Amino acid sequence: MRVLVTGANGMLGRDLCTHCVPDSIEIIPTDITGDVTRLDITNPGNVRSVIGDARPDVVIHCAAYTQVDQAETDPITAYRINALGAEIVAQETARAGGAMCCISTDFVFDGTAARPYHEYDMPNPLGVYAASKLAGELAVARHCPRHWIVRTAWLYGIHGRCFPAAILRAARSGKPLRVVADQCGSPTYTRDLAQALWSVIATPTYGTYHAVNAGQATWYEFACSVLREGGMPDAEITPIPGSDWPSPAKRPGFSVLTSVRPELSGRHPMRHWQAALSDYIKALGDAEAGLDAA
Ligand SMILES: NC(=O)c1ccc[n+]([C@@H]2O[C@H](COP(=O)([O-])OP(=O)(O)OC[C@H]3O[C@@H](n4cnc5c(N)ncnc54)[C@H](OP(=O)(O)O)[C@@H]3O)[C@@H](O)[C@H]2O)c1
Repeated sequence: MRVLVTGANGMLGRDLCTHCVPDSIEIIPTDITGDVTRLDITNPGNVRSVIGDARPDVVIHCAAYTQVDQAETDPITAYRINALGAEIVAQETARAGGAMCCISTDFVFDGTAARPYHEYDMPNPLGVYAASKLAGELAVARHCPRHWIVRTAWLYGIHGRCFPAAILRAARSGKPLRVVADQCGSPTYTRDLAQALWSVIATPTYGTYHAVNAGQATWYEFACSVLREGGMPDAEITPIPGSDWPSPAKRPGFSVLTSVRPELSGRHPMRHWQAALSDYIKALGDAEAGLDAA
């Protein structure tokens, strides 16, 4: 099966292209920059020629504008990439006879639920990034009939800026940490998500899926686990309310995801986020040791 990946140099894209790729898959990595096939998802001609030439069976769409706070002051760029870009990729994937797997976010929900959000809950995005991602979901559903929309959350991985890496960096520099303790979500390791995505696209059971590591945590609980796993259990860390950490974009207070339809794709539930975090910390250590040795 030929699988074209957009945003292949991003945090998720890089793990997707290298981690647990089934033998039967031939990957065509693309991104707007870097050492892969150049694909600007906002450029219809570019998208038509790259997807038309590659004729992939599936496009996994990881490319996105992911700067949640910056989106509030630059909504046009957020919508151009997350909504228009997804629409163009969906149109050209359908035209080339392929199916599309589009990665979306827990932020499509407003966070007022008293239980984890499942696939049939109603989105109600709070900020520009979230609204632009929801617009992308709707465009994909409209323009590419054979689609999977996979919502995930609180991603972290080896290849990119992410919360656990920032916590470790700050703790190593001896900075006292203040971390929000009243926002709760589903921390998810990109390598686990990559594995889940390979399993989702293996069957033509199209539709919307939630794919996150099991369990839930506040940012504060997540940070405490990072410090423990990272060998710094005594680092100074204080829980604070979100109101003490003002940010331009409103974020859902509770955006834990669950799935009521994993059996449709024959997927196993993903492991608990703490087990995934432990593997991430080991992989990060290996990557840092490799860099030191180089
Ligand atoms: N990170 C999270 O916590 C999180 C949570 C839930 C869902 N998601 C979703 O998961 C997906 C992957 O996220 P991620 O964290 O891996 O994102 P990321 O690291 O920001 O990667 C996105 C990639 O898309 C590329 N890109 C930007 N504009 C493009 C364009 N016009 N054409 C083609 N490529 C373009 C970026 O290139 P440049 O870097 O050069 O701009 C980057 O390589 C996204 O759909 C995101 O919305 C992420």
